[in-house]
Formats: sequence, structure tokens, C-alpha cells
Amino acid sequence: MTVYFIGAGPGDPELITVKGRRLISECPLVLYAGSLVPKEVVLAANPVAEIVNTADLSLDQIIARLHAAHQQGLDVARVHTGDPALYGAIGEQIRELERLGIPYQVVPGVTAAFAGAAMLRRELTLPEISQTLILTRHAGKTPMPEGESLPELAQHRATMAIYLSVDRLREIVAELAPHYGLDCPAAVLHRVSWPDQDGVVGTLADIAAQVEAKGFTRTALILVGRALQPEGFPTSYLYSAEHAEHYRRGDS
Ligand SMILES: C[S@@+](CC[C@H](N)C(=O)[O-])C[C@H]1O[C@@H](n2cnc3c(N)ncnc32)[C@H](O)[C@@H]1O
Repeated sequence: MTVYFIGAGPGDPELITVKGRRLISECPLVLYAGSLVPKEVVLAANPVAEIVNTADLSLDQIIARLHAAHQQGLDVARVHTGDPALYGAIGEQIRELERLGIPYQVVPGVTAAFAGAAMLRRELTLPEISQTLILTRHAGKTPMPEGESLPELAQHRATMAIYLSVDRLREIVAELAPHYGLDCPAAVLHRVSWPDQDGVVGTLADIAAQVEAKGFTRTALILVGRALQPEGFPTSYLYSAEHAEHYRRGDS
């Protein structure tokens, strides 16, 4: 018996891994985390499987379900949005499974940041513009650990994907602008890959007003960085003649 933490992807039911979908279709118990997991993904379950929305369950109640399944020898598909490793609260479930000696595996998924880059049709890591992507959030009920406040992270001027924070966009702009500049490209993408996906693209100067006009208050991803609207950058080493020569010679 195994608990499989499975990333369902950002919304489009085709953006789940083949492995994740297969496991959902095979497990007799499917627990999914609320309305952000696409219905079609959950409906891939076996018609006789039990399907439970855990949105209103406490951690103790979820662990009790997993423990009962373990005692009955039933595999469980535990489905989370995007990738389970990011803001998925699997850490505390894993801690309990380890305490109870219940086997588990994690199957990755497409996180909102990469679905967002695909929506914009942009590369987030461009030579000489940014070679780093910071995935973060603004402090909410969960405080930021020391050294991880937005003004501290902003000093790197790396491409930044900010989760769970669209309701604090004006504060975020005020914290980022001194480092990135008000003319830095920014995008706020709402319900990426869902049928009603929407988004705005602008700069730190105008993004908050655009978002307020749209009324996005949740399920939106903030992307910031010069890689979003590059004005010119060198061809990456991957496609250079020098790399092709190394490749022909068998170097990596
Ligand atoms: C609880 S976190 C879960 C993140 C998820 N594990 C992932 O990897 O994308 C929820 C936040 O992820 C972002 N998010 C998740 N799905 C999204 C989507 N389809 N479009 C835009 N943002 C999304 C939003 O910032 C939202 O507030």
C-alpha cells in the first residue's frame, strides 16, 4: 500500500503527467485538494473508487483517512494542484505518514510559474538578463523566514514568480520597484490554463491598476523581471557554434 502525492497541474486536465493520471485511474481511494484540482482529473478515477474532496477536512481527518486505507491495504491518490512540492502543505502530511510508517511517493506536476511562462510564451532565464528564477510569496498568515522578505530577494533582480499574493500587489510593487525599476516588465496571470484564463501584462508602474480593473483577487500568479520583455540578449551557449562543435566531439 502506498500514498501517492500527485501534482494535477495548473488547471488544464491535459497538463498532468502520464504517471499521475495512471495512478489516479488505478487507486481505489482518491483524495483531492479542493476546487483548484480540475474535475476531469478526478473523474479519471475508477468508477468504483471512492473520491473525497479534502477542502473542508483538517490534517487529523486527512491522516485518519490515509491510516484507515493503509490498514485495509488500499493505495491512495492524494491529488494536489500544480506541483505538490510548492505551497501544497504536503510537508505535514509526510511527517505524519513517516511517524505512522505509511509508505508514500511524490509524482511532480506543472506548477503555476511554468504554466504562466507558457501562457506568455516566454523563457524566464535569458542569457545576461536573468539566469535565476525565484519562486516565492508575500508574507500573509504565513510569515516569511529571516532573509526571505521581498525587498531582500529583490536585490538579486532575478526573474520572480510570486504565488498567493495578488491581494497585496500594491505593497509588492512598492517593495520591488526600488530594485527592479518601475519600468520593469510584470504580468499577473489569473487561472492559467483554465477555460476562463486571463491576464494582464505591463510594468511595475501600471500592473496594480490593471489588476484592479480586472478584479483579480485570488488564483493569480505574479511574474516580474526583464526576461518577460527582453530588449536584446545573446544566443545561449546551448545553441552556439562552439557548443555544437563540443557536441559533435561528444563533450557535454
Ligand atoms: C496553494 S498555492 C498552490 C500552488 C501549486 N502547488 C502550484 O505548484 O502551482 C495556490 C497559488 O498558486 C498560484 N496558482 C495555482 N494555480 C494557478 C493558476 N492556474 N493560475 C494562476 N495562479 C495559480 C496562485 O498564486 C495561487 O494563489
